[in-house]
Amino acid sequence: MRILVIGSGGREHALCWKIAQSPKCEKLYCAPGNAGVSEIAELVDIKTDDVDALLKFAKTKSIDLTIVGPEMPLVGGIVDRFEKENLKIFGPTKEFAMLEGSKVYAKELMKKLGVPTSDFRVFERIDDALKYIETKKMPVVIKADGLCAGKGVVICKASNEAKNTLKKMMVDKIFDSAGERVIIEECLAGEEASIIVISDGKNVVPLASSQDHKRIFNNDKGPNTGGMGAYSPAPIITDKLFKKILDTVIFPVIKGLAKEGKSYKGALYAGIMVTDRGLFVLEFNARFGDPETQAILPRLKSDLVEAINRAVIGQLGDYNLEWDARPCICVVMASGGYPGDYEKGMEIKGLDEVKKMKDVIVFHAGTKLAKSFTDKRKLYITNGGRVLNVTALGDDYACAVDNCYNAVKKIHFEKMQYRTDIARRALK
Ligand code: AMP
Ligand code: GLY
Repeated sequence: MRILVIGSGGREHALCWKIAQSPKCEKLYCAPGNAGVSEIAELVDIKTDDVDALLKFAKTKSIDLTIVGPEMPLVGGIVDRFEKENLKIFGPTKEFAMLEGSKVYAKELMKKLGVPTSDFRVFERIDDALKYIETKKMPVVIKADGLCAGKGVVICKASNEAKNTLKKMMVDKIFDSAGERVIIEECLAGEEASIIVISDGKNVVPLASSQDHKRIFNNDKGPNTGGMGAYSPAPIITDKLFKKILDTVIFPVIKGLAKEGKSYKGALYAGIMVTDRGLFVLEFNARFGDPETQAILPRLKSDLVEAINRAVIGQLGDYNLEWDARPCICVVMASGGYPGDYEKGMEIKGLDEVKKMKDVIVFHAGTKLAKSFTDKRKLYITNGGRVLNVTALGDDYACAVDNCYNAVKKIHFEKMQYRTDIARRALK
C-alpha cells in the first residue's frame, strides 16, 4: 500500500515508525512531517489544513490509505472530501469530528446516550452565565465550546476568577468564535486516564490504556500544555474498569450512532476521570492522543496498518491487537518558554548516542534538519515548542523510567526543559 500520514508531531512520527514496519506498507509519505520522520518516510511540503493540496497529492501519487493525525483537518472535513473522491482515509467525518470540535455537541450527545459525564449547563449570553456563577459553589470548570489548542478549559477556584474567565472568553473573545458559547460544569476530583479505540463504525478495537501529563512543571504545576509525557498502560485502569469504560462510554457512542444509521470511523479517544463516585468522561478527541500514542505504539506487536485498513473498509470484525506486557514511558523535551513564547533553531546534540540504546526510541516533534556552516555536517535543530519525545520500554515501570531518563540525559539543546516526574504515579 502507498500510505500518507498527515501531521508533523511526535504522534505522527510514532505512527510512521509503526507503519513503516508493516509488510503492507510499500511507500510512506508524511505531510509535512519533521526531521525524525524524514528518516523513514518521504516528506511532503503541504500544511495539514491545506485539504485541496493534500487531495491533489493523494490522487497524483495514487495513495491507497491516508491517516490523519491532528484534529484540525478532521474538523475541517478532510475525510468527507477524500471519501467523496473515493479515496480511503482514516478518521471521522466532519459531523463526528464535532465530538472534539464542539464540547457542547459532545456533552449533549453524552447526555442523550447516557454516557457518564459531569453535570453541566451551556451558555450563549454572558449575563446568564454570570448569574449562574452566583448560584454555584466553587470550584467550577469553564470550557470554551470550540477548538482552543488545549487552552480552552479553566478550573476556577473562586467566583471572581470564574467571572473573569467568562468575560475573557465571551466578551474579549480571546479564543475568537470558539469561546462564544461556554460550558460551566461540575469540577471532578480523581485520576485521569486515556482510552483510545479504533472503530470501523460498528466494531471497536481498543488500544492499550495510557495516561498523559498535561501541565508544564513537575507535580502537575503550571499551565496546561499539549502534553509533557505519557505512559502506558495506566495502572488505574484495571481489566474490570477497562471493560466498564468500553460498555458505558465507547460502545454507547459507536453503537448509539450506528443505530441512527451513522458511522464513526477512525480513532476515538475518551479522556476519563476515575473518581470515588465512579468514572466520568472529561472529553472526547476524534484522533489518536499526543503524546499517548508515543507511549502506546512501542508496545503494539500487531500490524497497525492491518487494523487501520480494516477500520477504513468496515471489516474490523473481532480483530484483536497484541501487546508487549512491558510498560512504556515517554518524556517530552520542550523548548525553554513553552507553552509560551520560545526560540527555535537550537542545535540538538546526543541523538546518535541514544540511537544505540536498547528499547529506547526518540520520536521527533518540532525538529528540522540543517547543515553545519563549518563542516557541512547534518544537524538537527529545534523547530517548535515540543521538540522530542524520548520513549523507553522496561521490565517494570521503574526500569522503563530509568531507561527513559538515561536517554534524556544524553540529549542536549540550549534552554531545553522537561519534567523529571513522568510516570511517578505509576511507581507508587
Ligand atoms: P478537556 O479538554 O475537557 O479534557 O479538559 C482538559 C483538562 O482539564 C482535563 O484533562 C482535566 O485535567 C481538566 N478537566 C476538564 N474537565 C474537568 C472537570 N469536569 N473536572 C476536573 N477537571 C477537569
Ligand atoms: N494528550 C491529550 C490529547 O491528545 O489531546
